[in-house]
Amino acid sequence: MPTVVPVDDASIARAAALLREGKLVAFPTETVYGLGGDATNGQAVAAIYAAKGRPNFNPLIIHVADAVALDNLIEWNDIARLLAASFWPGPLTLILPRRKDAAISLLASAGLDTLAVRIPSHPAAQKLLRAVGLPIAAPSANASGKLSPTTPLHVAESLGDKADLILAGGRSQIGIESTVVNLAAGAPMILRPGGITREQLEMVLGQKIAVFEATATPDAPASPGMLASHYAPNIPVRLNAESAEPNEAWLAFGADKQIRPCAARLNLSPQGDLNEAAANLFAMLRELDKPAHAAIAVAPIPAIGLGVAINDRLQRAAVR
Ligand code: TXA
Ligand code: MG
Repeated sequence: MPTVVPVDDASIARAAALLREGKLVAFPTETVYGLGGDATNGQAVAAIYAAKGRPNFNPLIIHVADAVALDNLIEWNDIARLLAASFWPGPLTLILPRRKDAAISLLASAGLDTLAVRIPSHPAAQKLLRAVGLPIAAPSANASGKLSPTTPLHVAESLGDKADLILAGGRSQIGIESTVVNLAAGAPMILRPGGITREQLEMVLGQKIAVFEATATPDAPASPGMLASHYAPNIPVRLNAESAEPNEAWLAFGADKQIRPCAARLNLSPQGDLNEAAANLFAMLRELDKPAHAAIAVAPIPAIGLGVAINDRLQRAAVR
């Protein structure tokens, strides 16, 4: 049985402590309930994907209490300032360039050079974010492919005890997710319609804003997160490798069977832990992506649990 507690000072303190330990807390927002984890902790972020049973690493929204908390995470621009002043706290998510020194797990943004950021208005979400003092990655608190939850009961039914704590704060007032607006490249574009309407945005911007149409082209990416091109290594990626050639970099998983010398080597998880492997995946691919290496040879990853999403990402990285 999941632990469901009403929002009060004690439960907020408990939730904040759990988040600092890398645990997962479901919490109310004005849009839908979120499944939160410490966005700076790769293992906590991996646990979010595992809890939702996501078959791929769709990037997550980073939640903070106020705009100042974003200064170390993203590169501001004028339109972002304007939309932030007009709609935050509230049901708007902005995609902005990620600062190079942002202390956010690469897994949270699925290896992208951008971050999705949001300041929720729900009082319990505000209290929690202030108490924890960390950026919180939070997708909707439902199993992958299921409806977004707007009550604590929905969360409990969908996730069971995969959330370490469920903060019960009543019914989400808006009931649909935040509007996602891309401000990282070119003219602003709505990637996902949501709680703030196109008209509201156009009023403030004083200009028309385009809406991303998934059906416009047959090859269009299915999820808005796929719009921005995912990080792909510059050198070839060779999957399900038994071992690396001398001029290749070796990315092992579990007991390392590579005996002969190779150009470089890292291990996603010496213990064969898929959570740890997911947390390390993007950072290790980046580290091995050197022109001096002929390719990155990657050991087989079991296609179970988070291994499904890891293999999905590796297959994308291997397509050239
Ligand atoms: O209302 C909401 O936004 C809720 C509450 C909990 O805040 N959260 C939510 O998260 O709906 P999620 O993970 O279910 O949806 C995140 C959306 C996805 O469509 C994802 O593709 C997009 O945001 N996204 C996240 N990071 C992105 C990025 N760097 N570039 C483009 N799209 C991104
Ligand atoms: Mg969702």
